[in-house]
Amino acid sequence: MTSLFPSQLRRLIGGERGASRGAREARVIAVCAQKGGVGKTTTAVNLAAGLAMLSDQRVLLVDMDGQGHCASALHAELRGVAAESLSGILLGRRRDIQEIALPTAIEGLWVCPSDKDLGAAEGVMAGKIGKEMLLRSAMKVARTHYDFIVIDCPPNLGNLTVNALLAADWLIVPCDMSMLSVEGVDDIFETVETVGDALGHHLSMLGVLRTRYDARNQKVNEAVEASLSRYARWVLPTVIPVNTTLAQAQLEGHPVFGFDPRCRGAQAYAELVEEVLVRTGAVTAAEVPAPL
Ligand SMILES: Nc1ncnc2c1ncn2[C@@H]1O[C@H](COP(=O)(O)OP(=O)(O)OP(=O)(O)O)[C@@H](O)[C@H]1O
Ligand SMILES: [Mg+2]
Repeated sequence: MTSLFPSQLRRLIGGERGASRGAREARVIAVCAQKGGVGKTTTAVNLAAGLAMLSDQRVLLVDMDGQGHCASALHAELRGVAAESLSGILLGRRRDIQEIALPTAIEGLWVCPSDKDLGAAEGVMAGKIGKEMLLRSAMKVARTHYDFIVIDCPPNLGNLTVNALLAADWLIVPCDMSMLSVEGVDDIFETVETVGDALGHHLSMLGVLRTRYDARNQKVNEAVEASLSRYARWVLPTVIPVNTTLAQAQLEGHPVFGFDPRCRGAQAYAELVEEVLVRTGAVTAAEVPAPL
């Protein structure tokens, strides 16, 4: 019988125990909104995949939401099984999420899936000293292996989201075209200020991303735009339209670019990728990838 050395076995089931440092310096982006269903996961998945597919960046997508939607949105692309859970890594404290980064069929894209214990882990975190810094500490090695790390956040401002904000350098706030969503934007801006004042971590705002935009809802759109005008300097020019192909791609487990690169959703997310590359300084405007 052929025996597998533990290191070979770990490679097969995903992740590298005790991963060593790489030579890269990732730009870390949290995708965060307090309201549910505004397109956080759709944005995180397609931004991460788009950076890898359209611009050859090496990208890690981290799912900090116990619902596990990143893994389901990419189920047809994932390769391997995580050797350990994200909640185990966060609570164990001595290991790095690089150990559970799963490869995908997309060149340049890896995923750290969440697990169903992440919600419960949030409660356990509450009693720990340095509870806000668990993800940041567990990302030190991972940061050196990627050009970008994109973190998908849960739909609330609990410990998991605060951990994501403290681990990130940049923030994208998806806002669907509803007044409730705008109220959520207010809360996020307040939280970012608190994180800056109380914990000394100053996040850079990549921007508020208008999502699920339906031109037929003219009156509501105008009201939402008027409310967002107080954040005018942070509202991204890209608008993500309502586009059922985005939902279909997710159901089939693919990013939209491989599924239907010509659809309006893919075009809009390609524009977002371009904006992110330029705004984070990863490329200059002259170097942006060719249009789809
Ligand atoms: N622009 C869009 N057009 C059409 N459907 C969309 C669009 N964006 C997202 N959806 C669909 O809406 C649903 C919610 O989107 P998504 O999961 O990205 O939101 P979320 O903010 O991550 O939700 P949650 O708060 O539950 O994590 C999904 O079924 C998704 O496919
Ligand atoms: Mg989500």
